[in-house]
Amino acid sequence: MSSYSPAEVAAQYATERHLRTRIQTHERYSVGPGLEGTVDRLLALSGDEDLLDVGTGPGDFPGRLRAGGHRGRIVGMDFSAGMVERASAEYPDAEFQQGDAAALPFPDATFDVVTARHMLYHVSDVAAALAEFKRVLKPGGRFLAVTNASGYMAELWDAVAEALPGDPRFADLRGSRQSFATAFSETGGVDQVKQAFGDVGIEFLESALVFSEPEPALAYLNSIPVMQQLSDLDREDALSALLRTFKARTQGGEWRVSKRVVFISAQR
Ligand SMILES: C[S@@+](CC[C@H](N)C(=O)[O-])C[C@H]1O[C@@H](n2cnc3c(N)ncnc32)[C@H](O)[C@@H]1O
Repeated sequence: MSSYSPAEVAAQYATERHLRTRIQTHERYSVGPGLEGTVDRLLALSGDEDLLDVGTGPGDFPGRLRAGGHRGRIVGMDFSAGMVERASAEYPDAEFQQGDAAALPFPDATFDVVTARHMLYHVSDVAAALAEFKRVLKPGGRFLAVTNASGYMAELWDAVAEALPGDPRFADLRGSRQSFATAFSETGGVDQVKQAFGDVGIEFLESALVFSEPEPALAYLNSIPVMQQLSDLDREDALSALLRTFKARTQGGEWRVSKRVVFISAQR
């Protein structure tokens, strides 16, 4: 089951605004090994592969591959017309297309590589999406999913629970840590990829966000769908309570929020 309803996913990703806030927070405040290095090592691209990036968002990954000299066809696909428009404008040397992971607009055996980075936890029918990824892969083609492991940003979610205890208006916010873990993580996610592809490879990457002031953590949290769905008044209440708690976390120095990402590889 997806972490959010299809309507919530569509609203959250209608434009890149909220996602960009989170991407920039990761870029500025992360310590430890970066995600892209692991992606590159696991994919070990020669540069000639035809590659599909599903749920590409603003297209940074296809853009990076093309800028790095990748010669094969690169298609970034996303459900959101706004993301596709943004990606096409930003990275005119890659191809971008609107579509649904569970009904890919490509013939069988089109691609050498399919990637799904931080998107399968939003998909309502993961089995259908994985079947589609397999269908559009050439025999021997490779699949890589990147997703958050359970316990991702546990320290942030502990602070949310502490800041907003028991208030029914914020039940969904307190519960959202769990919905991601159950939607597609190293537990259920790995099993689903195994069912679709057979053998899988699993690798973890441990890093962290380190905050020395509360505001960036607050901006990150304010960008997530459940916060955006609150009324303006409720959101103001939540933000004031969160700011107090985040301030206390950063007062003594640096607040470390751990990130554990899982990479699931498979082959057709
Ligand atoms: C968290 S963003 C990840 C974007 C990018 N892959 C990254 O790692 O930065 C999830 C993206 O998946 C897209 N998405 C969600 N459900 C989808 C579906 N069923 N088919 C295609 N794209 C989908 C959203 O529109 C959004 O752009």
